[in-house]
Amino acid sequence: MLAEFHRFKGDLMTSVPWYYKTTIYQIYPRSFYDRNGDGIGDLPGIIQKLDYIQKLGFETIWISPFFASPQADFGYDISNYGEIAPEYGTMNNVTQLIEEVHRREMKILFDMVMNHTSNDHPWFQDSISSRDNPKADWYIWRDPLSSPLWRGAEGQVPNNWQSVTGGSGWHYARTRGQYFWASFLPFQPDLNYRNPEVKQAMLDIVRFWLGKGVDGFRLDIFNYIYKDAEFRDNPFSFTLVPTEENSSGFFQDLKYTVNQPETFEFAKELRSVCDEFGEKLSIGEVLGGTKIVRRFLGDETNDGLTLVFDFRMLTFKFTADYFRELVQHMERHYPPPFMPVYVFSNHDRRRSIDRLGADIRKAKLLHMFQLTVRGVPCLYYGEEIGMINSKFPFATALDPIPHKFKFPPRFVFDALGITINRDEVRTPMQWNGTKNAGFSSAVKTWLPVYKNYDQINVEKETKAEDSLLNTIRSVLVIRRKERALQEGQLQLIENLPANVLGYTRSVPGEKISILLNFDDREKEFEAAEYNSLLELSIESTLNGRKIRLGAYGGLILKHAT
Ligand code: GLC
Repeated sequence: MLAEFHRFKGDLMTSVPWYYKTTIYQIYPRSFYDRNGDGIGDLPGIIQKLDYIQKLGFETIWISPFFASPQADFGYDISNYGEIAPEYGTMNNVTQLIEEVHRREMKILFDMVMNHTSNDHPWFQDSISSRDNPKADWYIWRDPLSSPLWRGAEGQVPNNWQSVTGGSGWHYARTRGQYFWASFLPFQPDLNYRNPEVKQAMLDIVRFWLGKGVDGFRLDIFNYIYKDAEFRDNPFSFTLVPTEENSSGFFQDLKYTVNQPETFEFAKELRSVCDEFGEKLSIGEVLGGTKIVRRFLGDETNDGLTLVFDFRMLTFKFTADYFRELVQHMERHYPPPFMPVYVFSNHDRRRSIDRLGADIRKAKLLHMFQLTVRGVPCLYYGEEIGMINSKFPFATALDPIPHKFKFPPRFVFDALGITINRDEVRTPMQWNGTKNAGFSSAVKTWLPVYKNYDQINVEKETKAEDSLLNTIRSVLVIRRKERALQEGQLQLIENLPANVLGYTRSVPGEKISILLNFDDREKEFEAAEYNSLLELSIESTLNGRKIRLGAYGGLILKHAT
């Protein structure tokens, strides 16, 4: 009977879906590797570098959009969801990419921008042409409000809704004498999901890519999909600058523009479409407090999206207390079967090492934490070598966002730690110390390579045994070997010296301890467990039961159970 029970329990344990256990590497295709020498990264370039990612140890890649697009927001403005932008490659390249990923027993996620299309999309071109064409109702159109002060055709905007980037998100189209709604920028009109044809068309696209073998999706600003059906004014808020935990901003509470009940329902519908194709990963870019973003995962059985980003940690502080509270918070809100996601940067936000004063020792510890805590880690390309933000003037930015902010001056954003010019976090991958950091043979790359490439690059760090890259690789080797690190429960270790964080990860018969010193002074103490075997150390030692953690040092220990 007992044996039966253990077998059953064992079966249950091995049936944890892959998407809760995987590790994600984000590729910004424009900046990863340029195969055809036009200064822009491409799909053949990604294929060529798959061995690199595999050796680094990541199991899943997420690629930012490479679909047909006028590239006004570098692919987050799609004009055809079933075609590939020529600068990135062809449909054959995509097929080959999926095959090559699978041949390496890895997984691939595409980036689905469902909330809006480009204004160049034929759907929008039809929709804007008149009030009675077949796509007239595919976007969100409203009549102007008549104004006693202003009697022109444009009247007043339909309500007080603000866009994500500030200012009204309503834009007037003379062809229809109406306003359309754009949550983000004016050239990214929002689709109208209250029209069943729109929903169907988008789910057909999802099915099309799943049918081609893609393993899932990162879902762009998913929490914006539905807007209030009655178009009620948003309430006033005292918040000017939106934060990671509160998407309200520009003095407005986004009550009627984000996180609507229908969007939580849609998450479930999308999940069931994904389920038609087996175990597929769906990870939502959703903004708001944890209680809200957690709702996108559905009910207790996790019948919504499989994962969500909880961006609170993008503004992390480098202390043990901060990370202890973060872990407690994530464990409380994402208990099994849910799995938290740990992410410290992406193509929109500051690079993580920028928050660490460019200290590689701190970056090693940060990633040792990220790759051993209970959760799916998501690492932005270049983080593994410690690539840092560039600094570019707003006036010449390729990113459309900084052009919206002529005021306040740049130092205000810098003081707030906000990246407005996203070009700064999207510079080409630094592969080696040769021309263009080995990214491209072009005379000019789409964005300049950052000046420190002769010091910070893949080739150099591959050779240096104790580099950040090799630390990440070593931790990932252990993670792929130890089930406890992939799916084990987490317990914080109490009574550790100040500024030291410790936790165990365990599955029946296997237990691992992780000890991390966030201090610049070394710490010595006794291990709580006998029979500890040292699996990995940075600047630290285990001597019998005596543990010494160097400045920003860390240890991974395995225990006999
Ligand atoms: C998301 C993307 C960002 C894009 C925006 C509009 O936040 O990450 O890059 O500009 O959505 O699609």
